[in-house]
Amino acid sequence: MTSNTPSNEDPSKLTSETGEKLPVPASVLRENPEPTNASEPIPLGLTALFFVLIFIAGIYLALNSGGFRSDVFSPDLVSWSGAGAGGAAAPVDPKVVGKRIFTQNCVVCHQTTGLGMPGQFPPLAGSEWVIGGDWVGDNHIVSVLLHGMQGAVQVKGSTYNNAMPPWKQLKDEQIAAVLTYIRSEWGNNAAPISTEYVKSQRDKTIARTEPWSQKELKAMAAESAGAAAAAPAPAAATSSPSK
Ligand code: HEC
Repeated sequence: MTSNTPSNEDPSKLTSETGEKLPVPASVLRENPEPTNASEPIPLGLTALFFVLIFIAGIYLALNSGGFRSDVFSPDLVSWSGAGAGGAAAPVDPKVVGKRIFTQNCVVCHQTTGLGMPGQFPPLAGSEWVIGGDWVGDNHIVSVLLHGMQGAVQVKGSTYNNAMPPWKQLKDEQIAAVLTYIRSEWGNNAAPISTEYVKSQRDKTIARTEPWSQKELKAMAAESAGAAAAAPAPAAATSSPSK
């Protein structure tokens, strides 16, 4: 403001030699300031913020990407037994899986108590079919699960005459898990059923298309899952020394 030199740049700064303000001509006021050519540099703060965000995003990805593995969220690739495709996956307790399968497929009839409904659905708690009885082997219960059951059947001294749907659409490991669950719940205390045993029974009864009757099941010789499950073990034992 102290300058006496008239300036073209800023019309408001026009002053006379004696310091008086001069009236600014309208033609000058109409003019916009001269446009500049160079663009403004990006503010430093914004650049810093950009890098900080990239850094945070990197940390987030590293922590939450699951190693970019394709099987992280795929239930089909997760191994139920803890060995196999999943590799590093923690072993899954078949009873936990079995309880889920039971809740999804069986409670409507057999109830969460495993007591069934008198006259309609037989109990699983204390059932000789589940824990094994005089003529009932592990093969019978697997067969009942795979293909269903119909007609008169005796469970714990009561006769039921209804129909149980087949569950062959469940995978071997799912049938093994649900059987292992019902054999260890409600006071039942029978050995677990392995996936391999379910598979062997499925292969054996693959031609079956109808639910079993108790009479047909009785005609089948009782078998223990333990014996069949132990069979592949010697084969594995003979192959291991060659390593
Ligand atoms: C629609 C009702 C229904 C569903 C669902 C059902 N069951 Fe059954 N279940 C029956 C009936 C009815 C019988 C007896 C069949 C008969 O009368 O011949 C039976 C019999 C059985 C038996 C042999 C008898 C006994 O009480 O021990 C077992 C074991 C069994 N079911 C297990 C299961 C399991 C495990 C599931 C789930 C995967 C299941 N059931 C789902 C109705 C059902």
